[in-house]
Amino acid sequence: MGSKIERTYEQAKSAWEAAHPPRHYLSVADLNAQSARAVLQLAQAMKTATRNGEELYRFSRPVALALIFEKPSLRTRVAWEVGLYQMGAYGIYLTQADIQMGKREAVMDIARNLSRWVQAIVARVFLHSTLEELARFASVPVINALSDREHPCQALADLMTIHERKGEQPLTLAWVGDGNNVCHSFTLLGAVLGHRLRIATPEGYEPNATIIAKAQQLAQQAGGSVELMHDPVAAVADADVVYTDVWVSMGYETEREVRLRHFQGYQVNTALLKCAKPDAIVLHCLPARRGEEITDEVLDGAQSAAWDQAENRLHTQKALLALMLG
Ligand code: CP
Ligand code: NVA
Repeated sequence: MGSKIERTYEQAKSAWEAAHPPRHYLSVADLNAQSARAVLQLAQAMKTATRNGEELYRFSRPVALALIFEKPSLRTRVAWEVGLYQMGAYGIYLTQADIQMGKREAVMDIARNLSRWVQAIVARVFLHSTLEELARFASVPVINALSDREHPCQALADLMTIHERKGEQPLTLAWVGDGNNVCHSFTLLGAVLGHRLRIATPEGYEPNATIIAKAQQLAQQAGGSVELMHDPVAAVADADVVYTDVWVSMGYETEREVRLRHFQGYQVNTALLKCAKPDAIVLHCLPARRGEEITDEVLDGAQSAAWDQAENRLHTQKALLALMLG
């Protein structure tokens, strides 16, 4: 490791330590503006290094992580496994078929066992309460890889992508579609970093009221705002960023027919995108249901930043882990 590279990590680490860093990362609300910026700045430097065939941070001791997935994944799993490999750490992929959390063994006992072998637990779960239970009984950090409530690792990649494309100025960020887990984490992190958020959902699909109250409080402290609405055109008008996600999240498949009906009019298509700023970027956490919440034309178009966003899952997760465990 060159000394400039070492200094980059040391600077991010001291900013992180000074910012009351969390022991676990279950929600974006576990971060503040300082700790979030430390992750994003380190992730940007790590991206440059990795693209140059170097690694900015490698563990100097043996580090293994349990990667628990109760639901399918492409991006989250691959970004964790590749990231751990690049940092000289090891990940053990555990599906529900392997460990059957809460069925074969109590969640608290799994947390206690894993804590004796691994240095952190990453978990994608149906119920957010499962993560809270893992965190309560684990003696190692627990990181949320998606729950019904939040997707906080995704939000780090989202805001990194926005900063890369638009700089760190306050921006208007429009969310169109389901007020779901991804919406919650994106809104919280956008608020922490002082952006103006407009969230358009159909009636009955608004984001969680407690999370929005928290986001509004955070936005106010940072000079931003969070507004809920039902009109996608009003949300997108002059926006810098337009973000959507699937209408039927994992775990909601039985509601598919009724959701498809309720979300008509919320598609991110060329006509809607024309209402945003001409240089607006489009985000999607992926996987996308092409032709439902987003058209091919928009997802594959010049304004789409979805592939950068997917790449940035790697760099942000590596930065988070280097700061949490380094
Ligand atoms: N965005 C995201 O988390 O993708 P996966 O479900 O494929 O991990
Ligand atoms: N809201 C989606 C995100 C997938 C990454 C889901 O929970 O299925």
